Amino acid sequence: MAGLKFAGLVLLVMATAMAIAEARTIVVGGSQNWRYGYNYTDWALKNSPFFINDKLVFKYGPPHNVYLLPNLFSYLKCDFKGATLLAGPSNGAGNGFEVVLNQYRLYYFASSNDKDCSNGLMKFFAMPLPRWQ
Ligand SMILES: *[C@@H]1O[C@H](CO)[C@@H](O)[C@H](O)[C@H]1NC(C)=O
Repeated sequence: MAGLKFAGLVLLVMATAMAIAEARTIVVGGSQNWRYGYNYTDWALKNSPFFINDKLVFKYGPPHNVYLLPNLFSYLKCDFKGATLLAGPSNGAGNGFEVVLNQYRLYYFASSNDKDCSNGLMKFFAMPLPRWQ
């Protein structure tokens, strides 16, 4: 009887571990989507940690967009020199634009329109952690 209970517990723990290992699909900003004036640094902190192969979904309309900034300095300065455009103003409609965090790196995301990044707080970074499987 004790053996059965133990086996049940082991199965439960394994099922939980597998559920945790499942990649998540996360809408950036939650119900706020990707918009001017919402604190995405705060959002990212509260939704961390991110894991390898988690998907971030950016939902927005014009004039916003999604850039990947090259480093911490450009992120802090909202400097888009050398940045990579991931999604233009029209790519955030419907189900949104999806980025898979499939590399072990720091991802610096920002919107480049006017003051989106500097005053509108439309920037955050994510560092996906490995999955143990
Ligand atoms: C945004 O959130 C971060 C982290 O919680 C905080 O340090 C920062 O002061 C906030 N920025 C603004 C403008 O509220």
